[in-house]
Amino acid sequence: MTERPRRASFLPFSRPMIGEEEIAEVVETLRSGWITTGPKSARFEEALAAYNGVPHCLALLNATTGLEMTLGALGIGPGDEVITTSHTFVCTVSNVVLRGAVPILVDVEPDTMNIDAERIEERITPRTRAIVPVHYAGLPCRMERVWEIAARHGLHVVEDAAHTMGTRYAGRRIGSDPRSVFAVYSFHPNKNMTTIEGGAIAFHDGRHAAYLKGQRFHGIARGEGTPFPEASPLYDVPMPGRKSNFMDVQAAVGLHQLAKLDGFMARRRELARRYLSALADFPELVLPADGDSVREHGWNLFVVRNRPEATGLTREELVDALKRENVGTGIHWQALHTFSFYRRYFEEHPEGLPKDGLPHATFTGANLMSLPLWPGMGEDDVDDVVSALRRVVAASRARTRVAMAG
Ligand SMILES: Cc1ncc(COP(=O)(O)O)c(C=O)c1O
Repeated sequence: MTERPRRASFLPFSRPMIGEEEIAEVVETLRSGWITTGPKSARFEEALAAYNGVPHCLALLNATTGLEMTLGALGIGPGDEVITTSHTFVCTVSNVVLRGAVPILVDVEPDTMNIDAERIEERITPRTRAIVPVHYAGLPCRMERVWEIAARHGLHVVEDAAHTMGTRYAGRRIGSDPRSVFAVYSFHPNKNMTTIEGGAIAFHDGRHAAYLKGQRFHGIARGEGTPFPEASPLYDVPMPGRKSNFMDVQAAVGLHQLAKLDGFMARRRELARRYLSALADFPELVLPADGDSVREHGWNLFVVRNRPEATGLTREELVDALKRENVGTGIHWQALHTFSFYRRYFEEHPEGLPKDGLPHATFTGANLMSLPLWPGMGEDDVDDVVSALRRVVAASRARTRVAMAG
C-alpha cells in the first residue's frame, strides 16, 4: 500500500446508507395519512422473519426495550441472576438491573472480545436463569458451547444480536436457531441496516407473542384469548405495558434497507479484509479476530486496540491525533464495570464480578477504538486511515526516541 497524504475531508467512523428509494418511500408514507404502526410495519416484520428464517419477528422502537421485554417474558426478576459479557453496550446489563435481577459478568476472550464461553459454567448458581451472549462487532459468539451449557443447566439463552443482523452462525441466520429463546437485532443508524432507530425480537415459540405485543403497546390485548376481535376499537388490558411500537415511517426505510442488506454486508467484509491485510505488519495495534467457517463475521465494527507501550500514546491521544488527520473513530465501549453506578452496584453485589477480575474487558475498554467502516467507503478511504495511523504512530515513536536520546 502506498502512503497517502492527510485527508482533505473528515471521514466519520460510521454513516447510514440512505438512498433515494428510502427517501421516496418515507415521503410517500408521510403523504399517505398513516405514519405510525400500520401496514408497512406488518410488511417489514414479515420480510424480517422471512430473511432471518424465524417464525416470528416483532419490530419495535429500539433493541434496548426489546432486550428488557425478553427478560420480562422469561419472568426474570428479583432473586434471579443473568450471566452476560463484561464487554457490551451498557443497556445489555442495565436491563437486567432494571428488572431487579443481578447481572453476572464473565470476562471476554482476548482475541474476539466476545464472552469467554469456557468461563460461563463456573458462574452458574441456583439463582441463574439465563445467559445473554453479545455478538460483539458482528462476530458470533461460540454458540455451540453456550447452548450446550444452557441445556445442561436448564437456562434460557437470549442473544443480543444488535450487531449481527445479516450474519450467519453455522450457516443459519443469527436468531434462527431455536436453542435461543430470543435474539434481538438493532437498527440504530450505525448498525448493519437502519430504520433510523429501531429493533426487532426474533423468536420461535408463538406463546411469547401475546406478552411481547402487549409490552410493546400499553399492555393492550385484542383478538384470541380476549372478548374483543382484532379490528375492535375496544380492548382489554391484562397487564401494564410500555410504549415501544414501530412506526410505518421506520418501516419505509427498513423495507429498502433489508433489500440492500446482503450488498451492504459484502462490502463491509471487503473493507474489513483490506484493513486486516494492510495492518498485518503493524504490531502496535491488536487487530480484531476474523470469523471462520462456523462464525461468519459481519463486521459491524472494525475494532483495533492500542498497545500503549508500543505506540507511546494513550488511546485518547491516538483518537485525537487521528481526528487531526481527519479520521473519525468510535469507542465501543468503555469498560462497563468502571462506570460510577456499576462501581457502586458491584460493591453491593460482589457476586456480579469474577473473583479474578475482568483483565481482558479492562484492557479492551481502555484501549479500543472503532476505525471507519461503512459500506459507502472506498478502498482509498481505508488506505487513508491506515496511512494516518502509521504516520501518527511513527511521529510518536520518533518523539519518544528524541526524548530518550536527550
Ligand atoms: C450490543 C448492543 N446491544 C444493544 C444495543 C441497543 O440497541 P438500540 O440502540 O437499538 O436500543 C446496542 C446499541 O448500540 C448494542 O451495541
